[in-house]
Amino acid sequence: MYLGIDLGTSAVKTVLVDGAQRVIASESRPLTTTSPLPGYFEQDPAQWIDATFATLDALKATHASELAAVEGIGLSGQMHGATLLDASARTLRPCILWNDGRSAAECQVLERRWPALRAISGNKAMPGFTAPKLLWIATHEPEIFAATKLVLLPKAYLRLVLSGEAIEDVSDASGSLWLDAARRDWSDAALAATGLSRDHMPRLVEGCAPATTLRGELARRWGMTGQPVIAGGAGDNPAGAVGIGAIRPGTAFVSLGTSGALLAPTSSIAANPDRAVHTFCHAIPDMWIQAGAILSAASCLAWIARLFGATEAELLAPLGLRPQAPSAVSFLPYLAGERTPHDDPAVRGMLDGLSHGTDRGSIVQAVLEGVAFALADCRDALADAGIAMTEADAIGGGSRSRFWLSVLANVLNVPIHRFAGGETGAAFGAARLGRLAVTGEAIAAVCTRPQRIETFEPDAGLVDAYAERLPAWRELYRPRH
Ligand code: XUL
Repeated sequence: MYLGIDLGTSAVKTVLVDGAQRVIASESRPLTTTSPLPGYFEQDPAQWIDATFATLDALKATHASELAAVEGIGLSGQMHGATLLDASARTLRPCILWNDGRSAAECQVLERRWPALRAISGNKAMPGFTAPKLLWIATHEPEIFAATKLVLLPKAYLRLVLSGEAIEDVSDASGSLWLDAARRDWSDAALAATGLSRDHMPRLVEGCAPATTLRGELARRWGMTGQPVIAGGAGDNPAGAVGIGAIRPGTAFVSLGTSGALLAPTSSIAANPDRAVHTFCHAIPDMWIQAGAILSAASCLAWIARLFGATEAELLAPLGLRPQAPSAVSFLPYLAGERTPHDDPAVRGMLDGLSHGTDRGSIVQAVLEGVAFALADCRDALADAGIAMTEADAIGGGSRSRFWLSVLANVLNVPIHRFAGGETGAAFGAARLGRLAVTGEAIAAVCTRPQRIETFEPDAGLVDAYAERLPAWRELYRPRH
């Protein structure tokens, strides 16, 4: 039996997976994000721990014998967050999250101080990545910077609490900008450029390698007979890749979570930092992931549902199964700024083309289309790096909407495939990494592709209609920095 724990942004999701890769049970507990100033996003690490423990306590109540038999645990997590710990491993401040835009000036400082940054990390310095956040802390909260002894990404903090050890996997570590992406090791020069050294960093392991074990007292709390191994795990996007068997070139996929991404596994680095393409090590050895990442995807749907005082299901139902034509309204999904391709933390969203005739449905459709157009920008940025896409799987909460996947198939002009349990992708992928860490099985034997339950084919008329709209949609973007 294996556990996958995904420390997401909106919730912690824990899945219990058996030896036949069936999800036996899953539990989820919500998380709250605070925004102390516009464009700032933070979470209290204590609530990650409470939420994780609550999911495991609940599994014990309903699936005690299965939980007792857990041998391996995999962790997945929201990427890029800066969790700062003092000499006693106490958190010094709330974690600054992946979508936080406060460190734009520090990104420029970092690139000036360390000109090899793009070549070594494969990434552009963008706010949201971890390293510029530490420069921001050094300038604005110098006492906290001075007291910082350890910098952990969110799931590494969770692992510290679960195991007592500070360990990170190379996929999540690539989102820090401190990693030498080709060597899959910390870069001393990158750390020095932010006033840090390896002493501030956790030990690194591959995602599918054993990292540590669950503390004895926690294993007893959850009635486990042994002391389960904890794998390296992965950032949520690479973990999602493992969950759907995207482990070799040619297996691109779209993630419609709180954030969105278009991701392509590669067997060598194909970076394009100038267009804000992300380079991540994959959660399996000798593979990388090139990604276009957008900061708001399913969170745009959640936002419009809040505005209309309706549930997402109530908004989606009247749209039907597929669009008849593009909405008359256009939407820029930059509610928290944007990374790929603009790298613009200051830009904000927009609704354009409103009239007396605009109804709720055309606004909701425009919101879904705006996210799809943003993913078309990601596709083009990846294409500039030589990565072509002929089809894509879809994962994340947004992939439950057939209408949205139909829009995507037409905007991207490729077939989009859907899985039955797409929304548990990252946690399921993490459970697979937990299994690999225990059994040492062949990666390809475990990381198979789940059954695709439906394919959304592009429709020539709609492909043309969306292709005609894309330039006008792009024109709406005005840089704010
Ligand atoms: C990826 C990114 C997000 C977070 C939160 O670069 O910032 O996908 O991992 O899910």
